[in-house]
Amino acid sequence: MAYADVYASWQNDPEGFWMEQAKAIDWFSPPTRALDDSKAPLYHWFADAQVNTCYNAVDRHVAAGRGDQVAIIYDSPITGTKSKTTYAELQDQVASLAGALRDKGITKGDRVIIYMPMVTEALVAMLACARLGAIHSVVFGGFAANELAVRIDDATPKAIIAASCGLEPGRIVAYKPLIDGAIEQASHKPDFTIILQREQHPCDLIDGRDHDWHAAQEGVTPADCVPVAGDHPAYILYTSGTTGAPKGVVRPTAGHLVALNWTMKAIYNVDPGDVFWAASDVGWVVGHSYICYAPLIHGNTTVVFEGKPIGTPDAGTFWRVIEEYQVRSFFTAPTAFRAIKREDPTGAMIKDYDISCLRALFLAGERADPDTIEWAQRVMNVPVYDHWWQTETGYTIAGNPAGIEALPVKIGSPTVAMPGYDVQILDEGGNQMQPGELGAIAVKLPLPPGTLPTLWNAEDRFVKSYLTTYPGYYETGDAGMIDEDGYLYIMARTDDVINVAGHRLSTGAMEEVLAGHPDVGECAVIGVTDALKGQLPMGFICLNKGCDRPHEEIVAEVIKSVRDTIGPVAAFKLVAVVDRLPKTRSGKILRATMVKIADGADFKMPATIDDPAILDEIRQALKPLGYAAG
Ligand code: COA
Ligand code: AMP
Repeated sequence: MAYADVYASWQNDPEGFWMEQAKAIDWFSPPTRALDDSKAPLYHWFADAQVNTCYNAVDRHVAAGRGDQVAIIYDSPITGTKSKTTYAELQDQVASLAGALRDKGITKGDRVIIYMPMVTEALVAMLACARLGAIHSVVFGGFAANELAVRIDDATPKAIIAASCGLEPGRIVAYKPLIDGAIEQASHKPDFTIILQREQHPCDLIDGRDHDWHAAQEGVTPADCVPVAGDHPAYILYTSGTTGAPKGVVRPTAGHLVALNWTMKAIYNVDPGDVFWAASDVGWVVGHSYICYAPLIHGNTTVVFEGKPIGTPDAGTFWRVIEEYQVRSFFTAPTAFRAIKREDPTGAMIKDYDISCLRALFLAGERADPDTIEWAQRVMNVPVYDHWWQTETGYTIAGNPAGIEALPVKIGSPTVAMPGYDVQILDEGGNQMQPGELGAIAVKLPLPPGTLPTLWNAEDRFVKSYLTTYPGYYETGDAGMIDEDGYLYIMARTDDVINVAGHRLSTGAMEEVLAGHPDVGECAVIGVTDALKGQLPMGFICLNKGCDRPHEEIVAEVIKSVRDTIGPVAAFKLVAVVDRLPKTRSGKILRATMVKIADGADFKMPATIDDPAILDEIRQALKPLGYAAG
């Protein structure tokens, strides 16, 4: 079947389409119906089924006689370690850790925070929670203690599973002080922690609260898979919104299983047994869906890579991994390729490797700029497919369905809407726009299985953030257009979310930190264009009247404060001290205009600006930072 036929088959019978895909999942009790719309606009899929995620990701492959197949390849150029874990070994490890968690009181529905680097045990921890029906929330290692504390208070976990450290090139990130600090700061106190001691930086354990990963599992009876309802939350993943409070995206169990399993062939074009590699981090949605769950549910071999595209040890690392493990489909963020291209512009290093095993490169997480796509196509000699999705959806909204029909690539477009998604471009009044016209990108409700049914502890915020602006639609927060051929183009965010090296960050959260500095009277944070990371945050601060401290000192303090409060991943290093901020007459800060000035782009003077002269002051303040050229 061609893509158009598959899409039409979904359009004609959405529930039938997903019930058909549900046959590929092993159920304790199969769903009798696909969609529950009784609480519309809140929807649930496969709610009356009983199922277990871990069973589908691990046990069923062992039961089918594929226990000896490698499930997880761990490759860490940072530590010089490599290992392979078969499905049978993974089953033992997961059942054992789940047994330890169960013995310490974790049961279905309990929350467990996981704070781990890119090691096999991170996946074991996620799967062990899934085995018990416990709801995990993985927190990215680049977030600081305060961000961890915010998540502890929102998810109220009974336990934290962590490693003693993460490893960044040239730097050991000691996790334990961050965990201790976060627990101290949070109002909610987890009952216990389980800590994987890494030889690079073992940590002290607090008696009675902290348990060693291995010791905790000694003598325990392995745990079986616990059936859960189809709409039981599989996990919570916090993502950046407009304010400092992150949004806890809830992932429903059954829809997640059905949809992710479907994507592995339809979108990534791999068959069970093939090696699939997503070079991301388990702390992000890409890591949840395509390092851990989808490849394992589908019976693939997944690669856990603890390294960077460059510097570990060089710009040939990706090619080495692809060759060494015979990777079939490879997924990463464009920023990783920009980093490689910068180090090795001619792609000379790829010549040392044979990557003929690779069928395609998939890019997502941020806008894929044409230069990067063309460079990757030329150097790798495989099709390069951009695809667009979000933490909220958990998988592709628009992409090129390579396993159904590889559609012609139009550079600059992530291609077309996938079955499940009726993507439309709307004007401010919620009316559909014409092909080629720029507007808000919205998806007609209901969203397909596996997408967020709500936000953790925050149904009102869910409705307000996503379902209110355009009744009957999910508001994606992205703006763009659809061309005459149905190809989608993603142009910009419509909110205060920025994308730094494929990482989703909130400028609002950074503004909250800056505003907390005693000398800062007013502030704004915007995302400026960066050749490597796509965007970088830039802060503008106005100092309180009478403050005569050297500007450099205050700038250094606010930079440190964002790093300490949000984390190094914010990459917040650019700050301009200004006398005032450009505003409309009603007092709204003109952030979009500031971005244009910083990027040296043309802009129209906002009709409502209070005092146009301020824009020149902004321009002058940006010059020393290397911005506002042109
Ligand atoms: N734990 C602790 N700190 C972390 C971290 C982690 N897991 N991940 C990143 N950091 C730190 C980095 O060490 C860096 O700190 P520094 O300011 O002291 O140098 C900071 O956070 C910013 O990190 P990063 O955004 O990774 O920038 P970088 O300059 O170290 O590397 C790239 C740039 C492009 C090589 C890198 O961003 C990359 O590989 N990106 C791939 C994109 C990706 O995986 N996206 C996920 C969604 S698909
Ligand atoms: P995250 O939730 O971290 O995956 O970030 C989702 C956001 O990243 C989207 O809403 C987009 O703004 C952006 N994004 C993700 N993929 C793409 C893409 N292929 N092209 C353009 N923007 C993208």
